[in-house]
Formats: sequence, structure tokens, C-alpha cells
Amino acid sequence: MNLKGKDFLTLLDYNKDEILYLIDLAAKLKQENKENKTHHILNGKTLAMIFAKPSLRTRVSFEVGIQQLGGYAVVLKQDEINLGQRETIADTARVLSRYADGIMIRTFAHQDVVDFAKYSDIPVINALTDLCHPCQVLADLLTIKEKLGKLENLKLAYVGDGNNMANSLLAGCSIVGMDVSIACPKGYEPNEAFITPNAEILDDPFEAVKWANIIYTDVWASMGQESEAAERRKIFADYQVNSKLLENASKDAIVLHCLPAHRGEEITESVFETHADIIFEQAENRLHAQKAIMASIM
Ligand code: CP
Ligand code: NVA
Repeated sequence: MNLKGKDFLTLLDYNKDEILYLIDLAAKLKQENKENKTHHILNGKTLAMIFAKPSLRTRVSFEVGIQQLGGYAVVLKQDEINLGQRETIADTARVLSRYADGIMIRTFAHQDVVDFAKYSDIPVINALTDLCHPCQVLADLLTIKEKLGKLENLKLAYVGDGNNMANSLLAGCSIVGMDVSIACPKGYEPNEAFITPNAEILDDPFEAVKWANIIYTDVWASMGQESEAAERRKIFADYQVNSKLLENASKDAIVLHCLPAHRGEEITESVFETHADIIFEQAENRLHAQKAIMASIM
């Protein structure tokens, strides 16, 4: 599998074989990490990391990940770089292409990442835009495969806002052969470009979780929507992952959350803590999944 030089902007740009390859490589790198095996796959290479939004998992897992592969990270926060404001995105891309070997971007407008990639000579990784969060979903698929032993013929139910997570879950799950049910209030549906024939968009969370093997949720107000948080708490009140909802799902269904979690909003404290082991494994898997991405495309 040769993915060298390919951008990682949305899972829709990757086919099933490529995604399965990245998941298998992530599992292998995870195993080797547990055995303290050191790698030199990206010896001396540099990843530039641009953050226009906050981050815990993405920031640390990418930085630790490139170090574990023998490379270095340079972190650029929004106040330093002012993406698209101090100079054009095209010029920033052309400059960074001369210094670094890969670029990771977390920002608002997905089009900014697309534009960046157009002018960049080195691979660009989408580390979350308002449209999608493909790195998270690669880690989620690794987690599901570890816990349930397979990816095909499973059903994932996503309860909450039809946001960047919902979009990427629709893409990733469909590509690997899973069914997806999204339960969201009217007007908060996922982006149409991500809705495939094996997906259903419902407004009833109880209907969505029926027969589901995986229940997934995310915050009701994403980064950049802070001013809507109070209004969204009312709109999404019936879309909480709580014990009553889980009574309607398969008894052995697993619960995933990309984090950060807002206990008492999209998920109750007790459901979160009951499933905390797997949720934090999911967070750990960001490291392994992104090492697989960087090792493959940089
Ligand atoms: N899940 C996730 O992307 O976490 P951060 O926002 O902390 O990076
Ligand atoms: N939907 C959330 C995901 C955080 C990882 C956000 O964009 O803030």
C-alpha cells in the first residue's frame, strides 16, 4: 500500500482497503509500542501543527506520535500564525512546505484546509474542521475492531448533534461496511455529502439505538458554538445517552465518546463511568492511529 504524499483531509478520499490498512498498521504500532520497540520511520522529519482551536488529545497524541517515530513537531497556535489573516493560506502553505515534511491543521472552515492542501507540496492532515474529524474516526474504528473483533455487519448509533463527528462517523463506518443510525433534532442533521445508503437519519434516539452494537455521542455545542450552548442544551435535552436509552440497546453494546465530555449533557455521569475504560482506550488510540497516518503519508 503506497500512500506517500497523500493528504488526509476526509475519509471520503480513502477507500476500504486503505482504511483497513491504516487500522491494521495502527494496531501493529500499538503492539510494538507496548513492547517498547523504537521506530525510525520518520527519522529527522518535522510535522508542523497548526491550531486555531483548543485541543488536548490531538495536540499531545500527534506530538508524542511523531517523536515515537523519530521525528519532531513544531506547534503553531492561532495567535502566532493567524491562519488566513496575516498572509494568504496559499503563501503559508508554500512557506511551511519548505521547512516541514507534513502539516496537521485544526481549524474552523474545512475549505481552508482544502485550500492549504492545494498549495502545499507536503501532505496535509485534517485534525478537525467544522465539517469533519477523520483522525478521531480512524481511532474509533481501531477501538471497535479491538473490542468487537470485526468492523463489518455492525451497527453504530450516534445520538446528538449532526456535527463534524457525525459526518466522519458516517463516512468511516460506511466505508468499512457498518450500518449507521443518527438520531438528531430536526435542523441538526449531518452534512448530506456524508449520508450513504447504509445510513439512516432519525429524530428518535430510542429507534436509533435498537440493535446497535456501538452507541456514540459528542458534545451538543462544538468549539466555536459556545454562544449557542444554553439554547442547544434545551434543543438536545431528549438526545442524552443515559441508562433509559441504553435499556433499549443491545445489552452488550459499547459506548464511545470522542471527548471532551460534558457529563449531565450529552451523556450521564453513570453511563460515562460505566464505559470509561473503553472511552479512554479510544482516546489512547488517537496516538496509534495518527502514527499510522503519519508513517504512511509523510
Ligand atoms: N477528541 C479530540 O479531538 O480531542 P481534542 O479536542 O482534545 O484534541
Ligand atoms: N464536535 C466537537 C468535537 C471535539 C473533538 C467539536 O468540534 O468541538
